Amino acid sequence: MTERRKVTLIPGDGIGPEVMSATVRVLEALQVPLEFEQGDAGSEVISKYGTNLPRETLDSVLRNGVALKCPTGTQIGAGLPSANVALRKGLDLYAALRPVRSVPNVKTRYENIDLVVVRENTESLYTGLEHIVVPGVVESLKIISDKASTRIARYAFEYARKNGRKKITAVHKANIMKLSDGLFLDCCRRVAREFPEVTYEEVIVDNMCMQLVRNPERYDVLLMENLYGDIISDLCAGLVGGLGVVPGANIGERTAVFEAVHGTAPDIAGKNFANPTALMMSTVMMLAWLGLDEASRRFDRALMRVYSEGRVRTHDLGGSATTREFTDAVIAAL
Ligand code: NAI
Repeated sequence: MTERRKVTLIPGDGIGPEVMSATVRVLEALQVPLEFEQGDAGSEVISKYGTNLPRETLDSVLRNGVALKCPTGTQIGAGLPSANVALRKGLDLYAALRPVRSVPNVKTRYENIDLVVVRENTESLYTGLEHIVVPGVVESLKIISDKASTRIARYAFEYARKNGRKKITAVHKANIMKLSDGLFLDCCRRVAREFPEVTYEEVIVDNMCMQLVRNPERYDVLLMENLYGDIISDLCAGLVGGLGVVPGANIGERTAVFEAVHGTAPDIAGKNFANPTALMMSTVMMLAWLGLDEASRRFDRALMRVYSEGRVRTHDLGGSATTREFTDAVIAAL
């Protein structure tokens, strides 16, 4: 008998609980050998715990090694640090993975896009090392290390090898940031030599943005440091219809958090309008990561079938289906 694995579920804020319960319904229909443990996080739980990421939740993810997370609300420019950033730091989730694939019947300017953004998640300008040098002048430090750059490059190449991906494009600005991005590229080149079956190329980040808008079909795996990765992941999501139809994962040595990367959608929260596709796609990734390949494929095929048939669509994509009706259609397509 297959051992039952425990997964921490973080429903988060806004539409999070709605898309989470929709996704759990599909997992139950799939009869996957998983058990669930609830983890509180987000702005709604601050009054209870005094923080948006309670120690209990972090411990639950550490214990189980895997979590499925919905969006959490964050104040801009003030307040507590984002729960997402705290999770990534607390669990050393060094690789952010954003697969971007055209979805049937979701109209965009492009067809046949199938690429993956691999983003270094711990360094660059996101270390929060900022200070006021003199009033009116602020310094923000960009950190790039051999260790973290080699680790993310190796992750990307191993991912390519495992998933039959043929080409890795390292994205950089080493023409200007010669030392920091130069070190990043050195590490990528060193790792690339160990993977002769994967084509390796380098593109400067501004040119990359233009190339992605003109010829996105040309790319396979994009490898980059944190800031470029943050921006380019969303650009790529836009190529296939936005954050509602792409999954996300943050992966560490022993732990992984799979998440819907859209926000909490406060304007439609509690109305049964939310599109659960992004969380469902992230769950497809989670099942594969857990080695539940058959369940992962079935879930993915069912989701794509609902889109191919085009009869059941949620409000954000111009349809009239509720969250529940969309989920019923996915379960029927299993
Ligand atoms: P948002 O993604 O919540 O909303 C933007 C628009 O997209 C809204 O019209 C919303 O209704 C729609 N939308 C988003 N997801 C949808 C879905 N699954 N189905 C149907 N429609 C959907 O972005 P916004 O307004 O910038 O952020 C709201 C809150 O979410 C903020 O507190 C922000 O900090 C938080 N946030 C959290 C994230 C996370 O935890 N990963 C990521 C982005 C934002």
